[in-house]
Amino acid sequence: MGKGFHISKTVGIVGIVLGAGALATIIALSVVYSQEKSKNENEVKPTDAATSAPTTAPSNEPWDQWRLPQTLSPQTYNVTLWPRLKPDPTGLYIFTGMSSVVFRCVEKTNLILIHSNKLNMTKQPTLTALGSKPAPTIESIVMHTKTQYMAIHLKDELAAGESYELYTEFVGELADDLGGFYRSEYNETGVKKVVATTQMQPTDARKAFPCFDEPAMKAVFYITLYHDPATVALSNGVVIDEVNVTADGTLVTRTTFAPTEVMSTYLLAFIVSDFGFIEQNMDKLQIRIFARQEAINAGQGEYALNVTGPILKFFEKYYNVPYPLPKSDQIALPDFNAGAMENWGLITYRETALLYDEEISSNGNKESIVTIIAHELAHQWFGNLVTLRWWNDLWLNEGFASYVEYLGADEAEPDWNVKDLIVLNDVHRVFAIDALASSHPLSFKEEEIQRPEQINEVFDTISYSKGASVLRMLSDFLTETVFTQGLQTYLDNFKFSNTVYTDLWHHLQLAVNGTGTGTSLPKSVQEIMDRWVLQMGFPVVTINTTTGQITQEHFLLDPESKPDRPSEFNYEWFVPISWTKKEVAQPLYWLLKKTDQSNDMKISVDEWVLANINVTGYYRVNYDNDNWQRLLNVLQNSRQSIPVINRAQLIDDAFNLAKAGIIETTLALRTTLFLNSETEYMPWEAALDNLDYFYLMFDRTEVYGPMQSYVGRQVKDLFDYFTRLTNWEDVPKGHTDQYNQINALRVACSTGNEECKTLITGWFQQWMANPNVNPIKANLRSTVYCSAIAAGGEGEWNFAWEMFENATIASEKDKLRAALACATEPWLLNRYLKYTLDPEKIRKQDATSTIISIASNVVGQPLAWDFVRANWEYIFKQYGGGSFSFSNLINGVTKRFSTQFELQQLIQFRDDNTHIGFGSGTLAIEQSIERTNANIKWVEKNQEAVLEWFKKPSYL
Ligand SMILES: *[C@@H]1O[C@H](CO)[C@@H](O)[C@H](O)[C@H]1NC(C)=O
Ligand SMILES: *[C@@H]1O[C@H](CO)[C@@H](O)[C@H](O)[C@H]1NC(C)=O
Ligand SMILES: *[C@@H]1O[C@H](CO)[C@@H](O)[C@H](O)[C@H]1NC(C)=O
Ligand SMILES: *[C@@H]1O[C@H](CO)[C@@H](O)[C@H](O)[C@H]1NC(C)=O
Ligand SMILES: [Zn+2]
Repeated sequence: MGKGFHISKTVGIVGIVLGAGALATIIALSVVYSQEKSKNENEVKPTDAATSAPTTAPSNEPWDQWRLPQTLSPQTYNVTLWPRLKPDPTGLYIFTGMSSVVFRCVEKTNLILIHSNKLNMTKQPTLTALGSKPAPTIESIVMHTKTQYMAIHLKDELAAGESYELYTEFVGELADDLGGFYRSEYNETGVKKVVATTQMQPTDARKAFPCFDEPAMKAVFYITLYHDPATVALSNGVVIDEVNVTADGTLVTRTTFAPTEVMSTYLLAFIVSDFGFIEQNMDKLQIRIFARQEAINAGQGEYALNVTGPILKFFEKYYNVPYPLPKSDQIALPDFNAGAMENWGLITYRETALLYDEEISSNGNKESIVTIIAHELAHQWFGNLVTLRWWNDLWLNEGFASYVEYLGADEAEPDWNVKDLIVLNDVHRVFAIDALASSHPLSFKEEEIQRPEQINEVFDTISYSKGASVLRMLSDFLTETVFTQGLQTYLDNFKFSNTVYTDLWHHLQLAVNGTGTGTSLPKSVQEIMDRWVLQMGFPVVTINTTTGQITQEHFLLDPESKPDRPSEFNYEWFVPISWTKKEVAQPLYWLLKKTDQSNDMKISVDEWVLANINVTGYYRVNYDNDNWQRLLNVLQNSRQSIPVINRAQLIDDAFNLAKAGIIETTLALRTTLFLNSETEYMPWEAALDNLDYFYLMFDRTEVYGPMQSYVGRQVKDLFDYFTRLTNWEDVPKGHTDQYNQINALRVACSTGNEECKTLITGWFQQWMANPNVNPIKANLRSTVYCSAIAAGGEGEWNFAWEMFENATIASEKDKLRAALACATEPWLLNRYLKYTLDPEKIRKQDATSTIISIASNVVGQPLAWDFVRANWEYIFKQYGGGSFSFSNLINGVTKRFSTQFELQQLIQFRDDNTHIGFGSGTLAIEQSIERTNANIKWVEKNQEAVLEWFKKPSYL
């Protein structure tokens, strides 16, 4: 799946306007199936099957286990589905289906256990033997709703080595719940339209038809869809037959698809819509982009179509494996839970992740589109052709795609230097979470991840962003040549089958051994990687340039916290240290133990050391005070001597080391002094991200005023620079310059720059006077909307709401939706919070991210917290259990917490709701408590010094 928080770049920038700082707002995704959370994780409850099971006590019975037995192995499925896009007389949307699965019996058994969730059988299932012996008779059929199985008990045993066919007919609800086979609705030219579509990953294929719903249970799928002749049916394969038939007394089209390759159930997709499309051919490959007809007619699919071919070509070369399928369809859906989903040959997206409009969409929208497309296309090989055996290894699948998405995007947009941005978007972002004592290792044991909500919880920032960061480090120290060589033999060796993550290490090792020259590793790939994969967290490396001593230590944001779990490696890592002495690159240094000595790093007074060049390593760096002072000198006087990524790193490392009590907070603040002459985006963004924390902690205190004046002074030159460069009419050439132009405007306005405020108010007034012509530049819209709504009242809010309702492109809707949360009148915010409970107003997919936006507004924060507490049960039932949304929601509404009182409320909230549960947000609750504790201590310790420093910012 493509995580949704790419989008943060464009809508997360409502930030400091109110001193509220939504800078790093993670766009949460609402996910909708509700899952009862058992209070005891380990206890497997007896089945609550509708028909009572033969035994009722907690048991070792196979149907009470979350994993399928290894007795049966599916070979082919023949699935026919008919979604009804109009409600039945009772108002219910349904789909009907028939499915037969051919499976081989591996081990004799008298039980067929197959996943089936929320499906009603409309006919007695039948079993046929395909060999010479007759099939056993069915004795009873029991649905186990908790473990989501249909259990078919047989009078006799199935014979090992024999194949059988199980045939079922069923009906299911085509609900608007964003999971399994579901419906999405939208209005077009005043007419309500319905799309039937799917989201199977991780465990919802079983909601569409009975299947062995585990990633290693690969099979070939023959798919047929029945649909209205006025609609188009899509699936993983190409269409091989299309005829009109009469069924149930109506004329329908029956579309048959070519059988799929051998594949996992979670990668299936079925879609019926009246969407339009555009297409292009690359050699023999057919590439199509589907979306609402209005969106297609407006050309919103063109950008996606143009970048897909080059990215596919790039991956063919990178993997050295041709694209495995004859077609590549990508489709934008009005309602979609994640950012995107890599279904094999039919990738689904939320609209903001695929549709682009030159006039309306921002540069940030464009970047998220191209990176998400690259991410999903990367999965077509890594993940789809070769699939991890079980969800405990999800980090490799998602971490890999999250790393190579930058390589793919770089191919499509070579002028952007987009590969650098992984440091801000992934490395720095996940550092913040992985530095908590309640973090977790990348890899889980297979038995730790069993239940659907546990599987959903694995789709987190650690899997995506730490996975990406660690693989980038690996590719860097192996060299890209060796890395791709190992990758290529891995893919070739395991195509159409399943792996565990160590299979990749094995192939990388073969590549290392094969090259002989060039790479000399101090340990095997597996030994090095075990340290990064099996233990949570990461080290801070301290270099003492006076003594030459180098040490590593587990980096924890709260110095008093203890890691939740022991590590067999004692929290020591094998650390590849790239470094320069002054500007001269030095050979890679491997730190293999806790403390070591390098005489090379012992330097004279006119030298300085900089380590972790371009932040290719997954660790932070600290120095002795003298070296810090020299680095500050360089930043101040000749910052070009330090690579731009490392200018961002020095700021981010310093702020976080200070947070952990390792260096003085004032030293961290001093790393921002050079910014008044800096125009590059990355250092600015790193500083603003970190100052955001100061705003969260202090915007309700006396520190606020002096902090505002300091930040205002620092940003003034940047604002003037962009005034000279663009006069706020032109778009800067460079990709990241465009981002920094937005920063300049946002921060200047939020710190009270009059020139800036006049600009923004002028633009918005102009728009309100003539709603049909929006004069605001696409890139600047998020910032302008937010500032104008914050400064305005009901009139501005209602105008923006109307524009939100009328917007025809989802990215514009998102900007307005985020900006509506910038209001400063509590009643407007409270009304807006209520809207999130009404899917007619705020789509379910957007509900949690809207609440988070409101919470990041200093006025909205207490309102959002009250709202979440008051409506917890409802919110949990509607949006709980899913992949990303819940942890983001909980982190989002509590991130400003920094008092004992707030801590008590949070603990109370946890204790009051144990009976309802927190689903995939369970870990997030603990993390929030830990973070609040750390915030309380930090504020106590630092408030005085920070206040003094902001009053008199000084370089020494
Ligand atoms: C799939 O099932 C349908 C009807 O149930 C049948 O007509 C069709 O021949 C089957 N296809 C295959 C490939 O078995
Ligand atoms: C399935 O059966 C249950 C129980 O009888 C019923 O409530 C539900 O509406 C049925 N679902 C469909 C889609 O018919
Ligand atoms: C769609 O349009 C209908 C009729 O114009 C209206 O009643 C309904 O509220 C609209 N729905 C949405 C989601 O905009
Ligand atoms: C099916 O019927 C529709 C509407 O009558 C028609 O437009 C379409 O061409 C027909 N398709 C086939 C394959 O006959
Ligand atoms: Zn993915």
